[in-house]
Amino acid sequence: DEDGELVSRPPVVTIMGHVDHGKTSLLDAIRHANVVAGEAGGITQHIGAYQVEQNGQKITFIDTPGHAAFTAMRARGAQATDIAILVVAADDSVMPQTIESINHAKAAGVPIIVAINKIDKHEANPQKVRTELLQHEVFVESMGGEVLDVEVSAKNGTNLDKLLEAILLQAEILDLKANPNRTAEGTVIEAQLDRGRGSVATVLVQKGTLRPGQIVVAGDQWGRVRALVNDKGEHVKEATPATPVEVLGLSGTPAAGDKFAVVESESRAREISEYRQRLARDKAAARQSGQRGSLEQMMTQ
Ligand code: GTP
Ligand code: NA
Ligand code: MG
Repeated sequence: DEDGELVSRPPVVTIMGHVDHGKTSLLDAIRHANVVAGEAGGITQHIGAYQVEQNGQKITFIDTPGHAAFTAMRARGAQATDIAILVVAADDSVMPQTIESINHAKAAGVPIIVAINKIDKHEANPQKVRTELLQHEVFVESMGGEVLDVEVSAKNGTNLDKLLEAILLQAEILDLKANPNRTAEGTVIEAQLDRGRGSVATVLVQKGTLRPGQIVVAGDQWGRVRALVNDKGEHVKEATPATPVEVLGLSGTPAAGDKFAVVESESRAREISEYRQRLARDKAAARQSGQRGSLEQMMTQ
């Protein structure tokens, strides 16, 4: 069913950049603008990921500390991001974590869109940002390259529409598609134990459609989906590709970046999760005995 009918899906976007360049502010500004414009009175619940709509097209933002999530997901080979927004403060320009972010995105083969932020500030120098990005082989359009760049102010909400348009343009080039009519698969974005609700895992569905009642394996955890909760805190009957959703009903908390998949039976789910837990225990034991070994070596030298 890998080659079943492919249908267009929203782009999945991660925000990256140097500390304090405005990643969180930008995400908040985009979400706020969208909530105010689109769903008057709607209270957006924070679930570590959310979707906005621009001209009737959806965009999925993964709202986690960019680096950690991106690195964890890349390390596990679970490519969840389609587009990286590189936030560069116009008053501070290119800094060490800006360069790190560029390297992460390039290594993962993810296209970059540059958001030159804080253009409201007196010290803002967007042209300097573009020139410095050249030195790291990020060629923005106005410098003869193909990387889209948008001057924004998260503080004043300037050009957020332009940024969303740039994302949709990039998404169109990528021609993102998935098959919604197959068993669901995806990636865990974050998970925690909640007092009233038990294990709550925020997942990104990447293939297929996830529904309550299905049996899911996520990392070394499993469970029957008791409920699906969307980014607005609403219970939903299904989650299609590129949709972030909270999964209730897992036995424990999988790790960020873990893959999840729907399986056909509880016995199969238990078998896979027990196998993975045993593997993890064996690995930990091997590490420990390795440490003991090198300690003994040191003592006898
Ligand atoms: P870390 O997550 O700590 O790496 O920071 P961040 O990149 O998420 O930056 P954050 O959104 O926390 O913003 C850092 C500071 O910059 C805060 O004081 C924001 O108010 C300020 N800031 C963010 N965007 C803008 C902007 O467009 N203009 C101005 N003037 N200040 C901004
Ligand atoms: Na900050
Ligand atoms: Mg932040």
